[in-house]
Amino acid sequence: MPLPNLKSSVALASLTSLGVGGPARHYVRASTLDQLRASLLEAREAQLPVYVLGGGSNLLVADAGVPGVVLQAAILGHEVISEDDATVCVRVNAGEDWDRFVAESVACGWAGLECLSGIPGWVGAAPIQNIGAYGQEVSQVIESVEVMDLKTGALSVMPNAACEFSYRSSVFKTRLKGKSAVVAVTFRLSKLGPAPLRYQELLNYFEGSQAPLTTAKIRQAVLTVRAGKSMLFDPSDPNGRSAGSFFTNPILEKEAAQALQKKAGASMPLYAYGDRYKTSAAWLIEHSGYAKGHVRGGAALSSKHALAIINPGAATADDLIGLARAIQESVLAQWGVLLEAEPQLWGFSTHPLLKGADRETK
Ligand code: EPU
Repeated sequence: MPLPNLKSSVALASLTSLGVGGPARHYVRASTLDQLRASLLEAREAQLPVYVLGGGSNLLVADAGVPGVVLQAAILGHEVISEDDATVCVRVNAGEDWDRFVAESVACGWAGLECLSGIPGWVGAAPIQNIGAYGQEVSQVIESVEVMDLKTGALSVMPNAACEFSYRSSVFKTRLKGKSAVVAVTFRLSKLGPAPLRYQELLNYFEGSQAPLTTAKIRQAVLTVRAGKSMLFDPSDPNGRSAGSFFTNPILEKEAAQALQKKAGASMPLYAYGDRYKTSAAWLIEHSGYAKGHVRGGAALSSKHALAIINPGAATADDLIGLARAIQESVLAQWGVLLEAEPQLWGFSTHPLLKGADRETK
């Protein structure tokens, strides 16, 4: 069936920060809501599955490619929709570059996003995995998220509470997975300056400094710290060709955390997280036989941060998945902890990594 809005067989690798993977059966870069709706209805008519692409920085595409329609919601523009003495509400379309928006909000003196500086990707992806870094999570400043239903093309506005935000997750990654596309996000930012810093690495950065902290100074500090770990996307830096953290940090019940700490010793980081504990996936990886810079086939671990699986240049998706799975198995065998992948995995016929259910059957 001819699909007038959709391009056929489009390479996806260059649209992702990992730079691997095969083609999309069909692809469209939609720059308006109408174009997005027309394309997805066309895909529905042809009974093809729809995949929504943002900036491609948290995505691993299989070597065989994606057997459906990839829609990139490249809608631009943002506006202040209301403000009072203390806060400003800004509505931003999904296709805006995340870090450009953070830089602009910092330049305006607005606070709430400065610790999220230097994160690659587009605004529309930010609520999906509830991006977080250096003590801030985007859910703290999201007022609402506008989504398009992938079946009908209908638009709706979801207030913060309906988004079910949690650590690196939201309703868009769980119940609404594959059912909606984020088309715009509204943020409520503060005009009263930055909140006190909480993250140890940033506190160390500013140690001894007497001058009052500004959002601009915090942004600069975050960019410097991230650059030191190759966590700024830079295609010319092989360590930078990654999807950021490949695994989430495990969250453990108190008993499990205590048992793990007893086995691992005091050097293993453990942070209180509500009434549970969060530990460091990077630490567990390094203490399971995978040092920074470890190479396996065409894939490697970043030489600056053990949580980033990188494409040093000629990796395939199978190479990257092979390393991820080997790491999962090793950490599970040594520490009894199952690491969960953070990036989206597209086009794999069966789930290529261990999941909670696999563990129960072990
Ligand atoms: N560590 C190691 N080895 C390493 C790196 C870190 O053992 O190679 C240990 C250290 O003890 C360190 C601790 O892990 O103190 C935490 O490391 P880091 O501050 O670098 O943060 P992270 O937990 O590895 C998380 C986020 C990052 C975010 C940073 C900074 C997740 C999955 N990752 O990483 O987010 O930038 O904190 O806040 O929560 C991302 O999600 O893609 C991402 C890059």
